[in-house]
Amino acid sequence: MNTPASLQSKRRAESVIVRTRDVCKEYRKGPIVTQALRGITCEIRRGEFVSIMGPSGSGKSTFFNIVGALSTPTSGRVLIDEVDVAQLSNDELAYIRCKKIGYIFQSYNLIQAMTALENVMTSMLFAGVIADDARRRGMRLLDRVGLKDRWFHLPKQLSGGQQQRVAIARALANEPRILLCDELTANLDLATGQQIIDLLVRLNREEGVTIICATHDYRMLDQSDRIFWIRDGQIEKIQNRDEVRIQVGRIGGRA
Ligand SMILES: Nc1ncnc2c1ncn2[C@@H]1O[C@H](COP(=O)(O)OP(=O)(O)O)[C@@H](O)[C@H]1O
Ligand SMILES: [Mg+2]
Repeated sequence: MNTPASLQSKRRAESVIVRTRDVCKEYRKGPIVTQALRGITCEIRRGEFVSIMGPSGSGKSTFFNIVGALSTPTSGRVLIDEVDVAQLSNDELAYIRCKKIGYIFQSYNLIQAMTALENVMTSMLFAGVIADDARRRGMRLLDRVGLKDRWFHLPKQLSGGQQQRVAIARALANEPRILLCDELTANLDLATGQQIIDLLVRLNREEGVTIICATHDYRMLDQSDRIFWIRDGQIEKIQNRDEVRIQVGRIGGRA
């Protein structure tokens, strides 16, 4: 029996977790106008691992902020779970930012006066988790990112890689279905960067978390289902992993 067309299109829609339509973003600073995004239309499917690759200044962080409902486009639409973000009330936006999306910022954004554990607990307390549960879960998350013995350290007592792991544990605190990462490995040494990538891959493959990474780390390419190449605020091309494997092989071959 044929599946009715309406059901087919519903199934297709269900599998899309983030959809953008002709998203543009302008920044104005006095007389200077920067066109950071110039019409980005894309779909990201549930459970996908997508890398946003592009040179510095190409609009990756701007895209990150807009897809994460942290800033609004100048024009165009962003749908998360098929809901237009622009239609949401402040409370609904706060809910999405707190529960549905985990953010890992390039600069970590940890609270300096709080220990690693307190930083991780904060997002859970915001989400209404009681303190004892938040503490237990926070400890488990820090164990998971390899920081078992650093629960009570302040950010300034941790290396860059360790701070990044705290930021990852915090981003995972409320079990988000989407994890947004901005230049995750940019400030890490090679070995730590690889461990962090492996952790993301496990989250993606074992727990089905949708991962969207702005990056220019070529090691991410081989782990990504698709790569969006962005240049001057536009998607230049989208590649599947198979096409990229060949390229990574070639890059490796030349090195
Ligand atoms: N808050 C801002 N105000 C003005 N211009 C900005 C701002 N943020 C980014 N830009 C500009 O927008 C463009 C895209 O920046 P960004 O999204 O940060 O790129 P990327 O993350 O790829 O390096 C750049 O030209 C940058 O200078
Ligand atoms: Mg950036």
